[in-house]
Amino acid sequence: MFKKMSVIIASTAFLAACSGTSDYAPPAGATGENMHAASCASCHNGEFYHWKLAPEEQNAEYVKKVITEGTMGMPSFPNIKGKELDTLTVFVLEKSAK
Ligand code: HEC
Repeated sequence: MFKKMSVIIASTAFLAACSGTSDYAPPAGATGENMHAASCASCHNGEFYHWKLAPEEQNAEYVKKVITEGTMGMPSFPNIKGKELDTLTVFVLEKSAK
């Protein structure tokens, strides 16, 4: 009984902290626009498009962490990496500075 309860509690905590993983994998050489349209625009559009990064969040390290690990309400994108992750990060930072 206790064992079952702790499994339920553990999986609820996991779900609350993580809203899933996207298996989107960008084609090699994808542009920021390509990747945004394919994998981000379904949520980040209109007013939410510019990500509203606080000044201390407007750096590549923070943006890469959000993309790779996700946030509350946002899936992680473990397949966006390497050159594509750099490209998308520059795109996000350019858009969020406006
Ligand atoms: C399923 C919907 C969804 C998708 C798809 C999605 N996001 Fe998000 N994203 C969110 C939510 C929800 C937040 C959290 C907003 C908050 O905390 O204010 C967020 C937060 C962010 C943040 C941090 C904003 C901040 O203020 O800290 C960045 C950067 C970001 N997303 C970039 C992306 C990128 C790049 C993609 C595409 C690879 C993407 N998101 C795909 C829903 C999504």
